Amino acid sequence: SPCGPIIHGLEDVLVKTTSITDIDGDRGILWIRGYRVEELAAHGSYEEVAYLILRGRLPNRRELQEFSERLKASRELSPAAVEVLRSLAKAHPMFALEAAVAAEGAFDEDNLKLAEALRAGRYKEEEKALAVKVAEKLVAKIPTMIAYHYRFSRGLELVRPRHDLSHAANFLYMMFGREPDPLAVRGIDLYLILHSDHEVPASTFTALVVASTLSDMYSAVAAAVGALKGPLHGGANEAAVKSYLQIGDPSKAKEVVEAATKPGGPKLMGVGHRVYKAYDPRAKIFREFSQEYVKKFGDPQKLYAIAEAIEREVLSSPYFQQRRLYPNVDFWSGIAFYYMGVPYEYFTPIFAASRVVGWVAHILEYWENNRIFRPRACYMGPHDVPYVPIDQRS
Ligand code: CMC
Repeated sequence: SPCGPIIHGLEDVLVKTTSITDIDGDRGILWIRGYRVEELAAHGSYEEVAYLILRGRLPNRRELQEFSERLKASRELSPAAVEVLRSLAKAHPMFALEAAVAAEGAFDEDNLKLAEALRAGRYKEEEKALAVKVAEKLVAKIPTMIAYHYRFSRGLELVRPRHDLSHAANFLYMMFGREPDPLAVRGIDLYLILHSDHEVPASTFTALVVASTLSDMYSAVAAAVGALKGPLHGGANEAAVKSYLQIGDPSKAKEVVEAATKPGGPKLMGVGHRVYKAYDPRAKIFREFSQEYVKKFGDPQKLYAIAEAIEREVLSSPYFQQRRLYPNVDFWSGIAFYYMGVPYEYFTPIFAASRVVGWVAHILEYWENNRIFRPRACYMGPHDVPYVPIDQRS
């Protein structure tokens, strides 16, 4: 541009330092607080990983217990948020979630107190502890918002949170109102672990932009939900499963993949990544889980078989090879959910239920050294245009 280089889509632009997550895109490795994601997925629970992300180290047994208790104690919503969810029962749950987060924040005393302190320039130990408290509440409440929306959307009675269940199990219980199947709980927990943080994708950046203005933490998260909703970001899990349902049979995979290689052709949902130029390590784990799931419960709509056939075509296609495009996390993640009875419009909300911990942890990191985001644009229009009164305009 005439003003200097424009980094289109901020590719490779560094906006902050972090000690939360690191990605080696060439080798397909993801570390969260230094741990390989595979390691956390194999041994951890979402509660443990959320603690790790927020506090920087794994909890001991007592700390984990106390953290889980705090989450359980914060699961309920304010009447305002419940009303918002009720009135948006017929809307896509991502719209409802965005609005419910904002509504909840408007009446959360801790959130308001924290915002006030930040505006007064105070961010010391006391405020930092308050910020973690607000962050934990957001982690606790988002699954309730999703489950309540699901219940309202189907005209069902709300199911209150159950104190004896884990984060993942309670979520399924509140959604479906029955004791969840252990493999389904494991699937949700795995999903929550694998999506918990991923450096600064569009939604996290959105959260940071809002937080940098010293608005408030709930507003930052509501905005991040809006960014996550897009099909180029978190919405890809819903779009991928919808496309498998539409494709209907693995025999069509070749044709579908070929269409995506044509100029202006539809993109394959769940394929490609700004950072990974190798197989997404999270996709590998979901692939295995989906396989395990369909082995046990079957693949009646052939979703797994279709995804497998598409993947085979993608991996052997020169178009995808040259561009280093591989299946990403969203390619495999929705299949087991779909078979568990989670409608596909709830896939991205569950992504938000997981990623909220990453959003808030990045906000906490950024507030340590806050500066408002204020980039520039290169103006390409005219200057000093004479004003023509309205009745003299053609
Ligand atoms: N299908 C077909 N072609 C593709 C795809 C795809 N899924 N993804 C990228 N390309 C092509 C693109 O057309 C371009 O080709 P050319 O060089 O000939 O113009 C080239 O690959 C580079 O793509 P890009 O659009 O410049 O890449 P980007 O870094 O701006 O976008 C992306 C990354 C993830 C938005 C993109 O790959 C995409 O739209 N994928 C499908 C949506 C998706 O799965 N999103 C989820 C991302 S991972 C999890 C998350 O963020 O939630």
